[in-house]
Amino acid sequence: MDRILITSAIPYINGIKHLGNLVGSQLPSDLFARYMRLRGHEVMFICATDEHGTPAEIAAKDAGKDVATYCQEMYHVQKELAERFHLSFDHFGRSSSQRNHALTQYFAGRLEENGYITEVIEKQIYSKADQRYLPDRYVRGECPSCGYANARGDQCENCTKQLDPTDLINPYSAISGSTDLEIRKTKHLYLRQSLFRKKLEEWIDSKNDWPILTTSIAKKWLFDDAGLQDRGITRDLDWGIPVRKGTEPWPGMEQKVFYVWFDAPIEYIAATAEWADTNNLTDEAWERWWRTDKGAEDVRYIQFMGKDNVPFHTLSFPVTIMGSNDPWKLVDYIKSFNFLNYDGGQFSTSLGRGIFMDQALDILPADYWRWWLLSHAPEHSDSEFTWENFMESINNDLANVLGNFVSRVTQFSRKHFGQTIPLNHGWTELELNTIKRLKTNLEEYENCLEQIEIRKAAQILRRIWSYGNEYIQEAAPWVKLKSDQERASTIMNFSLNLINFYGIVSEPYIPETAKLMRGIFKSSSSLNWPHDIEHCLKSLDPLILVEMPPILFKKITPAECENWKSQFSGQSNQSHDT
Ligand code: MF3
Ligand code: ZN
Repeated sequence: MDRILITSAIPYINGIKHLGNLVGSQLPSDLFARYMRLRGHEVMFICATDEHGTPAEIAAKDAGKDVATYCQEMYHVQKELAERFHLSFDHFGRSSSQRNHALTQYFAGRLEENGYITEVIEKQIYSKADQRYLPDRYVRGECPSCGYANARGDQCENCTKQLDPTDLINPYSAISGSTDLEIRKTKHLYLRQSLFRKKLEEWIDSKNDWPILTTSIAKKWLFDDAGLQDRGITRDLDWGIPVRKGTEPWPGMEQKVFYVWFDAPIEYIAATAEWADTNNLTDEAWERWWRTDKGAEDVRYIQFMGKDNVPFHTLSFPVTIMGSNDPWKLVDYIKSFNFLNYDGGQFSTSLGRGIFMDQALDILPADYWRWWLLSHAPEHSDSEFTWENFMESINNDLANVLGNFVSRVTQFSRKHFGQTIPLNHGWTELELNTIKRLKTNLEEYENCLEQIEIRKAAQILRRIWSYGNEYIQEAAPWVKLKSDQERASTIMNFSLNLINFYGIVSEPYIPETAKLMRGIFKSSSSLNWPHDIEHCLKSLDPLILVEMPPILFKKITPAECENWKSQFSGQSNQSHDT
């Protein structure tokens, strides 16, 4: 049994996330966490809301609420949506928690003691119209790197370049639109990332199993001379974690807070501490996941994120960890994702273009979305959601291949063999061959999931489902029923056992449906990985009742498809944040 720590990039608090956000970290990390638990490993799966910085402030202002209230409300909205998508976090924390305040201030103190922080007189953009400083996203303008017209002051959404607001060409205030901006000087703390270039390079070079997407972005920032500059970790904002040196005040910094990207990844650790607090456990309970001097030396730590998050997780956060000179656990593997596009364009939160998590669940159950998103995850390139493709995938994979098999088998069995499981009178060549095929494919499925090859694993799972249909077609119990009752009984026994088998191996992708499938056999079914397929396919107790399942998947009609297409096109769809 291994111990596996899994974190998903923590979503910004500023509104309900769209499906592109979901498939970029939370959903694939859930798949992996579920699989690892199924394989009997001890898993700690952590996520949280990212509550500081300008995105939170802007969204609260637009909602007409004070920031704390807004965050509190939106936290519950996001938590509930996560549950409805069956995201199985061990803890869903908040970056505004007391734990994160204390840990962030602690890290800053350690970094200062070790000489990795400098005080810098910085040029900040000040807006006379707004009568305030405009950090990060409060400024927009043209990206100096790619020319994108509407880049944000912290990072260009188009080319992922990390920016400073003063880098922008033709800047304007995101609050008032004013271009009447001036540059003023004020003192800020800088993290001396540049001192870590060599160390980071060695560390990243030692990770030869990382996805190319991850290492290529990391290296780009490492060698690009803009990439590993020292970085400001404080801001002129009210909302955030007050700048302190551990528990001590930091002279001259009284009015400032830490930069959101400094405290957000620390929340991975803080959320694990929140988990311990919530469960009335001592500090040892969370430290054994994070401190290599306290049991974490044998933990495998895997992070999931979209590609725009990679620089922060391969450079900035590791510098925080390394620079503390404490034995904190560093990440072992970073799985990153490209972007999901929506129907010929981008998902857009501000234009309300695309499908948001709440809307998705209003029209179809979570498993439909989970299946499509995971089987089309933007792993090796960007991918695109289209309604036609979605309809096709749901109707074929879920309704025809899986759903149809389950309903055919259960109906036939109840009709001809009554309420209990028909007896197995001995397998023939046909069952043995099916088992052989399942075995090869299950092994391949396991390997893909182990390597977090999500699309490939989904394809194999679909193939595993299709063997059920092929089997029953060839076995033709409806023919055998007249000539050889015992044979028909064996076929139905095998088919029902296959459903039970599917109810286990499909669980990471479609947990709700998998549960329904196992529910057909009530207590006779258990969620144990089928290490031994033969044994698994004989495991149902013949005395138990076969419960008729509901229809697992409803087909999507072209008319529904057309409706949704216009509903989500972005013209009338309500905006989901700022
Ligand atoms: N909130 C960020 C985003 O949605 C992700 C933060 S991940 C963490 O892009 F590292 F800060 F935790
Ligand atoms: Zn750019």
